Amino acid sequence: MAAEPLLQVAGLGKRFAGLVAVDDVSFTADRGEIVGLIGPNGAGKTTTFNLVSGRFAPSSGRIRLDGIDIVGLRPDRIVALGLARTFQGTRIFPGLSVEENLRIPLLARAGADERAAAERVREVLAFVGLAALRDSIGGSLAYAHQSLLGIGMALMRRPALLLLDEPFAGMNPAETRAAAAMVRRIRAEGISVLLVEHDVAAVMETCDRIVVLNQGRKIAEGTPGEIHRDPAVIEAYLGADVDA
Ligand SMILES: Nc1ncnc2c1ncn2[C@@H]1O[C@H](COP(=O)(O)OP(=O)(O)O)[C@@H](O)[C@H]1O
Ligand SMILES: [Mg+2]
Repeated sequence: MAAEPLLQVAGLGKRFAGLVAVDDVSFTADRGEIVGLIGPNGAGKTTTFNLVSGRFAPSSGRIRLDGIDIVGLRPDRIVALGLARTFQGTRIFPGLSVEENLRIPLLARAGADERAAAERVREVLAFVGLAALRDSIGGSLAYAHQSLLGIGMALMRRPALLLLDEPFAGMNPAETRAAAAMVRRIRAEGISVLLVEHDVAAVMETCDRIVVLNQGRKIAEGTPGEIHRDPAVIEAYLGADVDA
């Protein structure tokens, strides 16, 4: 069991009416690995997250998390098995304070102990760098801070696998560098990360391995160095991105 990758996705497919959003995609994420998922808009990255997190049922394929087949399980069951995710564009509770937002993921836990919860809030606030903003209202935060809060919420239950959907969007270069360093610290805590991100430079410097999607299909997979010089990736994505 320990030799099995933490996440195994095999032959994954998702069809929406006539559209094939994800088409026969296979990849794995090992324990303590940061895997990037990149590709042009509409490539199927967010849909892949929605399949892995149980929000949508796949049309085909298998998904195993920590040796367990999770296809067909409810999202909350998959969370209980160790998965956490953030949402593209963030999804915090704008009327609640930073601390109250961080406590939301703990509410579903029966018999939660208040001392442990308060301690976890303190740890996560420090980890994501929001300790000074603990009492600020979520909706009043700068966008970069809202993104960090979303990551903090995802960390509250100590996931084994964290899915981040464009966490650096709306961040300036200094904020992106700091957030990328934080993603590497998340990995150092033993958490595996699946990172969807448009900032190619940040992806290249953050990820151990990268999977490239285009029109729902996996067109390449490799180390950042391999991906950077892959002609198919340059053609479908990197070339266009440099010009953008
Ligand atoms: N709930 C949905 N219903 C219908 N089509 C969808 C839905 N979600 C995504 N799609 C379509 O699936 C394709 C892949 O989308 P998405 O996974 O969001 O791409 P990405 O995150 O790579 O930009 C797009 O053509 C998108 O319009
Ligand atoms: Mg997306």
